[in-house]
Amino acid sequence: MSVAAVVLAAGKGTRMKSALPKVLHQVCGLPMISHVVNSLREAGIGRIIVVVGPEGQEIQDLLGSEVEYVVQREQLGTGHAVLQTEGALKNHNGPLLVIHGDTPLYRSTTLRGLVSFHDSSKASGTVLSVFVDDPTGYGRIIRDSEGAFAKIVEEKDATPEEAAVKEINSGTYVFQSEPLFAALHQLSPENAQGEYYLTDVLGIIRGQAGRVEIFTHDDHEEALGINNRVQLAAAERILRNRIREKWMLAGVTMIDPDTTYIDAQAELESDVVIFPFTFIEGHTRVASGSVIGPFAQVRDCVIGENVTISQATVLGSTLEPGCTVGPYSHIRPGCHLAEKVKVGGFCEIKNTTVGPGSKVPHLSYLGDTSVGSGVNIGAGTITCNYDGKNKYRTVIEDGAFIGSNCNLVAPVEIGTGAYVAAGSTITNDVPPGALGVARNRQRNIPDWVQRRSGKSSCQEEG
Ligand code: UD1
Ligand code: CA
Repeated sequence: MSVAAVVLAAGKGTRMKSALPKVLHQVCGLPMISHVVNSLREAGIGRIIVVVGPEGQEIQDLLGSEVEYVVQREQLGTGHAVLQTEGALKNHNGPLLVIHGDTPLYRSTTLRGLVSFHDSSKASGTVLSVFVDDPTGYGRIIRDSEGAFAKIVEEKDATPEEAAVKEINSGTYVFQSEPLFAALHQLSPENAQGEYYLTDVLGIIRGQAGRVEIFTHDDHEEALGINNRVQLAAAERILRNRIREKWMLAGVTMIDPDTTYIDAQAELESDVVIFPFTFIEGHTRVASGSVIGPFAQVRDCVIGENVTISQATVLGSTLEPGCTVGPYSHIRPGCHLAEKVKVGGFCEIKNTTVGPGSKVPHLSYLGDTSVGSGVNIGAGTITCNYDGKNKYRTVIEDGAFIGSNCNLVAPVEIGTGAYVAAGSTITNDVPPGALGVARNRQRNIPDWVQRRSGKSSCQEEG
């Protein structure tokens, strides 16, 4: 059975009050439409057609060529949106799953269940319904006296009795193409919103003696439709919770799940420990034995085994096994820390590689730098990588030792095993094995204090 899916994403999303198309707002670090497409893929649906509006370029840029697109020029309603796919689906004769781009919480197992229910009941159309305490904003499922499907009524068109119904239309359906498109051609916009409602299609099919089924799903949270930012935050909460549970069951310890934020695409191995107020974002992978947090943000990073990151921000970087970072440090994108590198307190590192076992223990800035292995960077070392126009690299070879409070003015190279004296401003390369000293010699002026106080008492007398 070949199932195709149509994802509706052409609506303006006015209730979001946003310049960004609604379906591109993120839930747990991933645009909501990507959640929908991923679930469809996981459910085994190969062909996905996304209906976009005339300003849908951003959606196409995001999803690329993994899906097909149909443009709905004018937003005349959900029924009108599905009708735009008629040409693209001319040769499709299996079931068609229709889903909204603003319902990101469906599990793939639920979508699979819906399709097989539809298939086994030989219906022309099946709607996924859930029961909710507060049905505000949703279409209501109206059943006949036998409990079978009668129609869907949108809230704005509902009588008070209909509005009181707590079984809602999730906006996810499976149809047989032929009766679907036949019914879509019969829609009229005579309703409170003047739109062509997809929801009316089921009533039309039923009126023409077609079989319409209701697939009632237990977990109403999956059907949450996001029309405004309050619902966006609700979706975020639900999905965060699910993600946390998934990783805890996979062997991750979370000291305080409520303050642990893990994005949808992050991956954690067993025996990772996460302390409170920690954000694991984007495509981050964290290997076994690592301890992250408290107060850590790690985004788009590869974190090896047994790494410790405490009270630090680590972005777009790779940390090999055994590294320690923090507290209060910022690893900016483009860094690669080899095994057992230590970056201690109050450091900032950007676009920098650090070799095995090297230490940057305190108060340093390394930008555009290559640090070899076994290097010690003294407290307060600054690479001066920017002359106001261009950026330059600093190279610090294996085993070098940089004393405290040094400026390394790039481009500059510190050779293998070389030393740089504390307080130096280094503007020329230091050869391997040499000591670079670039500061004034100290001069002590004997009895200076006594002479100074003698002079000032004289002035007072005068
Ligand atoms: C819709 C349903 C409602 C259901 C709810 C579930 C209709 C008429 N109503 O209401 O019964 O309970 O979803 O979440 O279907 N879209 C287009 N083109 C359009 C209009 C909308 O592509 O011309 C897309 C939107 O981008 C969105 C989806 O269709 O992804 C749903 O539209 P929306 O306006 O959010 O419908 P609801 O009012 O939520
Ligand atoms: Ca909606």
